[in-house]
Amino acid sequence: MVSKEPLVVGKIKTLIFGAEGMLGTELCSVFPDAIKLKRNDGDISDRDKVIEIIKQNGPCVVINAAAYTAVDDCEDHQELAYEINGRAPGYIAEGCACVGAIFVHYSTDYIFDGREKTDNYRIIRTSWLYGVHGKNFVDTMLRLSGKMEKVKVVNDQFGKPTYAVDLARKTAEWIEYTPGIYHITNEGVCSWFEFASEIINNVIPCTSEEFPRKAKRPKYSVLVNTKTPPMRHWTDALTEYLHIRKTML
Ligand SMILES: NC(=O)c1ccc[n+]([C@@H]2O[C@H](COP(=O)([O-])OP(=O)(O)OC[C@H]3O[C@@H](n4cnc5c(N)ncnc54)[C@H](OP(=O)(O)O)[C@@H]3O)[C@@H](O)[C@H]2O)c1
Repeated sequence: MVSKEPLVVGKIKTLIFGAEGMLGTELCSVFPDAIKLKRNDGDISDRDKVIEIIKQNGPCVVINAAAYTAVDDCEDHQELAYEINGRAPGYIAEGCACVGAIFVHYSTDYIFDGREKTDNYRIIRTSWLYGVHGKNFVDTMLRLSGKMEKVKVVNDQFGKPTYAVDLARKTAEWIEYTPGIYHITNEGVCSWFEFASEIINNVIPCTSEEFPRKAKRPKYSVLVNTKTPPMRHWTDALTEYLHIRKTML
């Protein structure tokens, strides 16, 4: 699967959109020399600006970590969600095509669409992301655990938790691979309840019907990775994250 002429990742000019998000911040550590664009510097829903930025900077790789990720809010703001998550990656792909850059984009286990306006794309589908730089399930569990006697968590939706640090590191390795769609997550499958049980002690299982949400979640969104070497098990990554989090208090 590796392309004929491997890239030397540390030396290639890289541009990151969404540099302030949970994954974006980790990517900035992995690509310290990258051009790092926060939302104010590069709103991905502004087509002309996005293309202009890419043309002006002439990167070899453009990584899009920007997205509207609050899936329940997206239900209330569907046009905005479609603009940021649907059309905007197309604007970046257009810009990449102008300068011949590799386009790296993150998709999810909730949305399956690999069509882009460039052939030189790498789409990473990932799931259940957590890390120190953004709102996430692990932190929510820790917060609720201190406030509630018992925390109810659904036990009938299954997926693969993924540590943002592991995904950012893997992105750097994986840019060398041929264009296409890749599933990159930590190894292992669990339900949200099983995930929560590794974080806190006072958790009890419930069904999705007992815990209705605006955005419908898939019952089984396990991404099977067949193309890249597996990452560590999610419990090992979580142990590291919980340790790091403790040292930050
Ligand atoms: N989180 C997950 O569980 C999960 C699961 C699967 C896949 N993913 C994918 O992984 C990628 C990174 O997710 P994440 O969890 O790191 O998200 P995040 O923490 O919410 O970060 C997204 C960043 O994008 C910025 N942004 C939003 N709209 C923008 C716009 N129009 N122009 C420029 N920047 C904009 C946000 O800025 P503001 O804070 O100002 O809005 C935020 O800094 C996304 O593609 C996401 O779909 C995430």
